[in-house]
Amino acid sequence: MRKKILFGNWKMNKTNEEALAFAKVTPSIVKLAKEHDVILGIAPSYLALETLKKGTEGIVIAAQNVHYLDHGAYTGEVSIPMLKAIGIDTALIGHSERRTYDNETNEKCHLKIVSLLQNDMVPLYCVGETLEQFNAKKTKEIVETQVIEGLKDLDEEAMKKVIVAYEPVWSIGTGLNASPEIAIDIISFIRKTIEKMYGKDVSEAVHILYGGSVKPNNIHSYLANEEIDGALVGGASLEVESFRALLTAII
Ligand code: PGA
Repeated sequence: MRKKILFGNWKMNKTNEEALAFAKVTPSIVKLAKEHDVILGIAPSYLALETLKKGTEGIVIAAQNVHYLDHGAYTGEVSIPMLKAIGIDTALIGHSERRTYDNETNEKCHLKIVSLLQNDMVPLYCVGETLEQFNAKKTKEIVETQVIEGLKDLDEEAMKKVIVAYEPVWSIGTGLNASPEIAIDIISFIRKTIEKMYGKDVSEAVHILYGGSVKPNNIHSYLANEEIDGALVGGASLEVESFRALLTAII
């Protein structure tokens, strides 16, 4: 049985001090999540990773990006061994903002996913179509390519650990969420694509989340369906009471 996952993506928000203030209030939220078997995660900025890792217990703390090489002359980058050294074991890969602003291609995502899995870490791989692609009815074509190119040639057991997030680009930060019907249709399609690549045993193990303008008042409509394993939440994960409200809406 797959567990439900509530994952916050803080993007370029919160200083260390603000992250620490958030961390201080989390024990009661973590307790609630544990009682209801929900996995909690937060991806803060690099600078707040260690703060949150040390300041919380029972929350997966994830990086928002990694470099696929261990070290070298790559100014501005952070490597997997650096993250492991502070106890981080999960990283977002291929978020649409990185695809748009930082030239994150499927090929690059694949290199990062391979490196993470080789280091026994969990990639949270984001896929999704732009508004133009959605209007041209190309969603499945785009998402299929992202899944195939990003997740090809992986060890089967390692693949089971991968988390995929379907995030239509047009719904991120816009308040225009994809309807639960669209989310269910595309998430089922992603699972079928993974099944074609790795078989049913693997595809049934992979967690697939929905992301894009998820709020406390709409999260239940997604997670009520057993095809959707959780949510990746930006804006509504920033305030601790909103994060708590997201959780209480799904338990
Ligand atoms: P949003 O962001 O919830 O603010 O739309 C989601 C995301 O980018 O992961």
